[in-house]
Amino acid sequence: MIRKCLFPAAGYGTRFLPATKSMPKEMLPIVNKPLIQYGVEEAVSAGLDQIGFVTGRGKRALEDHFDTNVELEHQIAGTDKEALLTDIRALIDRCTFAYTRQVEMKGLGHAILTGEPLMGGEAFAVVLADDLCVHTDESVLSQMVALYRTHQCSIVAVEEVPLDKTASYGIVSGEALDESLVRVSAMVEKPEPEVAPSNLAVIGRYILTPDIFDILKRIPPGRNNEVQITDALNEQAKQGAVLAYRFKGQRFDCGSIEGFVAATEHIFRRDYAPGANYPTKQDR
Ligand code: UTP
Repeated sequence: MIRKCLFPAAGYGTRFLPATKSMPKEMLPIVNKPLIQYGVEEAVSAGLDQIGFVTGRGKRALEDHFDTNVELEHQIAGTDKEALLTDIRALIDRCTFAYTRQVEMKGLGHAILTGEPLMGGEAFAVVLADDLCVHTDESVLSQMVALYRTHQCSIVAVEEVPLDKTASYGIVSGEALDESLVRVSAMVEKPEPEVAPSNLAVIGRYILTPDIFDILKRIPPGRNNEVQITDALNEQAKQGAVLAYRFKGQRFDCGSIEGFVAATEHIFRRDYAPGANYPTKQDR
């Protein structure tokens, strides 16, 4: 069973400057809810309620979001505004939250390694909250947790990207097991299109088996002199221990301006526009 979910959230978010100069990228709101809350809601939808955050300097707003604000809550008690806090209160009641700091930004792999004390010696999920995933039926993380039950190995969520975009992603290659699953044989971090083994790109949803930590400790820094999770997964892939999953749903790269605007439009139309067809709460 997977119970833990790690949120690496120490990055500088330079693509979103100046908004991210003193505010974490993960606190950017899509309509009225911060990205990190969508991420934690997705984790809970998959049954994961032990939440770990890897934060850094300037990220205290994340901790404050998953805590009560006595003064504010007293102020709005008994008004219709209270309902706006129902969802975040439910998360605070349901989950445990643990935090650790990445002191130097040495890459996503290094951030995940920094989270080792929070994840214990069991398989865990990783969510990059700036990738917002929406779905009609089961959340992307729920889909992956269900797969883990059967396959008991690391799983990365992938989607096809245009060939000229491979240099922005980790790219996988391998043998198709069925229409949605690939047994990964190799993974490359941000290859140029000419050398990309495919156009199947890893997005910000992972399930990792705990041996990933020993690999992360052992491998040398890769691209950009950063410790790359792609390189560590490539080691597991050589043992046949990584699956790539073409998830059902839609993903928005909210770390980019275009993706952020597209996500905002999508969520507004879905949940808030006049006449919107309100989904059930689980679907949000
Ligand atoms: P990104 O590549 O999106 O980097 O990191 P970033 O700093 O967040 O944003 P830009 O590119 O400068 O605009 C992917 C994920 O890995 C985390 C980030 O917080 C983000 O969730 N990360 C990255 C860390 O936690 N630590 C790192 O050293 C690097």
